[in-house]
Amino acid sequence: MHWSTALLGAVALAGSAAAQDTYTYTDGEGRTFLGYTNTAGIRYGIAIAEGAIEGAYDAMIQITAPNSIGWAGLSWGGSMTYSPLAVVWPNGDDVQVSSRIAFGYSLPSLYYDATYFFLPGSGTNETHFTATALCMGCTSWTPPGAGPIDLDPNGENTLAFAYSTSPVTDPDDIDTTFGRHDAHGRWSPDFSQAQHPDFYDWFEDIEFPCPTVPPPTSSVPASTSSIPIPTPSDDPADPDPLPVPSSCPGVSSFRSGFGVANGWRAVKLAGNLRTPRGIVLDTRGNLLVVESGLGVTVHTFGPDGCFASSKTLISNAALNHGIGLTADGRTLYVTSMTTAFEYSYDPVAQTVSSERIVVTGMIQGGHPTRALIIPPAYPHLLVISLGSYDNIDHPTIDPSVGRAIVKVFDMRDVPQGGYRYNTQGYLLGYGLRNGVALAADGNSHIWEVENGADQFQRTVNGQSYDIHADNPAEELNYLGDPSVENPNWYGYPTCHTIFGAEQLTDAQFQTGDQFVLAPNATFSDADCVRRGSVPARLSFQAHTAPMDAAFDRDFENLFITFHGSWNRPQATGYKVVQVPYTRNGQGLYEPVDPPNSRTAARDIFWSENESSCSSFTCFRPCGIVFDRAYSRLFVASDRPAEGELFMLARV
Ligand SMILES: *[C@@H]1O[C@H](CO)[C@@H](O)[C@H](O)[C@H]1NC(C)=O
Ligand SMILES: *[C@@H]1O[C@H](CO)[C@@H](O)[C@H](O)[C@H]1NC(C)=O
Ligand SMILES: *[C@@H]1O[C@H](CO)[C@@H](O)[C@H](O)[C@H]1NC(C)=O
Repeated sequence: MHWSTALLGAVALAGSAAAQDTYTYTDGEGRTFLGYTNTAGIRYGIAIAEGAIEGAYDAMIQITAPNSIGWAGLSWGGSMTYSPLAVVWPNGDDVQVSSRIAFGYSLPSLYYDATYFFLPGSGTNETHFTATALCMGCTSWTPPGAGPIDLDPNGENTLAFAYSTSPVTDPDDIDTTFGRHDAHGRWSPDFSQAQHPDFYDWFEDIEFPCPTVPPPTSSVPASTSSIPIPTPSDDPADPDPLPVPSSCPGVSSFRSGFGVANGWRAVKLAGNLRTPRGIVLDTRGNLLVVESGLGVTVHTFGPDGCFASSKTLISNAALNHGIGLTADGRTLYVTSMTTAFEYSYDPVAQTVSSERIVVTGMIQGGHPTRALIIPPAYPHLLVISLGSYDNIDHPTIDPSVGRAIVKVFDMRDVPQGGYRYNTQGYLLGYGLRNGVALAADGNSHIWEVENGADQFQRTVNGQSYDIHADNPAEELNYLGDPSVENPNWYGYPTCHTIFGAEQLTDAQFQTGDQFVLAPNATFSDADCVRRGSVPARLSFQAHTAPMDAAFDRDFENLFITFHGSWNRPQATGYKVVQVPYTRNGQGLYEPVDPPNSRTAARDIFWSENESSCSSFTCFRPCGIVFDRAYSRLFVASDRPAEGELFMLARV
């Protein structure tokens, strides 16, 4: 989903509405709305009661869209994440309104703290569909880990909209999946102009028996444990690898075509998960999965190598990616966009206890993932990566801003209420745009795989040209020993890394060189190295979107998941790659290939027709982890159409 860039500060594709684009209209039922029509011809209307008092006041929305639109959404908070969302779509002669919330840039979950009641003037005709609804709970909310947000009934509030021409998967289902938006933008209506003295008269005669959103039911199957789990006093030390099944009973087939490298086989372990992101293995070989919008689920294996049982370990819809266990498997860490939590974990019972907030104050906005890792040799250190706010987040040139950065927190001495992310802990490098993939090598030194920027133009002597298809590279950076501070700057937001050198025609470059977008008298490309920007150790194809990484047993290969692109004429990514490593004379681990290599990543597991993939049509590898015997790799795919878990096994 890329409702994201509405928030990420890039120019919103569908524009941003100034006050003068807002107008008042009266609909066929005689109700007056403050309205705005975007370039796709979708009209958004808002009405509230005269004299509404800040807090939780009622609001009416009306969304009218041409029938060519698959779904249209409104964010009450002006961003995709941490705001109540209304998503509407046609359903035969009717329409649906789904109350949602997103804690990452993935399919929003149902949101139960806001309720929409349909009002007359909802339905479809030959050309348009219209949803008119009263919302309770849309003007005041408290995002997890942040303070309350109240929309000002007497002033301007920034809302956001997004839409797609692709229909939702199942229009009957209020909890249906749907793909990312085609475009998005913002609208900042002055709510004082949306006030109307007759507001309550408009639905005086209407009974509101059934909210459009059903009350919460457990969306996770209760434990379906069928295999009795022995309880030895210790974890089995040298596990026997489980057999590799050719398929798993009751699991649907692969949602889309794929290929695997020679020597590997792919098996689907589970489907229909809720946006599976980060995954870890516990000391008994059970798989823990962050299902974004749900929490953490735990899956045990049966003797056939398939899942034997699945249950919810932590219910917290705000958890969106980060997960890690200490090497002894007894302490679990997870993150939401704003907060890192610690739990005691019991791998025998698969239960958590003693929740503690260990890091807070991670910004609510920008890139939402807070990847974490606990270096095996330093079980008391929690390493957390926090990405940039915008595509180019200028203030992050100062590390004290606390974004585009990796920081380390000592869990032996957590302040009351948790560390504040941007003022406490210590640096493990800054100028790291969005390092979602973190891995620890055989020395417990940290490697970061970074998502480079989008929409790049190179400007030289006032002339700009497009270089974005193959630049900047996704970077592999060495952050070093996490037990000591690493104050180094890795270049962002000023210095970026070349992947496709041939796209830069104004100078001679090779893959791995650093460059600036617009060289000038005070900062040339060569100044990147001169001013201490640490070059990437390897470069990968631009826009492949690295999500996670795992070393094999002997640290001879790093396996990286590439989620797949949106900002490229031909799609790329949607695969798992293998990068060979070696140990050098100083005992340090490093990639085999030199920094100017373009072929360091070898494909292991890929989507068929990669270049025409979208986030909806192809799998999107995300979390990756080896089993205890290092013979099987587990891979989560958080594609909105279906969350899947795969197993890659050596054959
Ligand atoms: C269909 O609905 C739209 C939006 O309410 C309206 O503008 C249009 O006139 C309607 N068309 C017909 C044929 O009723
Ligand atoms: C890949 O392309 C081929 C040829 O166009 C087509 O038959 C096949 O269905 C495509 N596969 C996927 C997963 O899109
Ligand atoms: C020169 O380029 C640097 C790096 O991109 C930038 O920070 C600086 O503002 C530029 N200076 C001028 C005068 O444009």
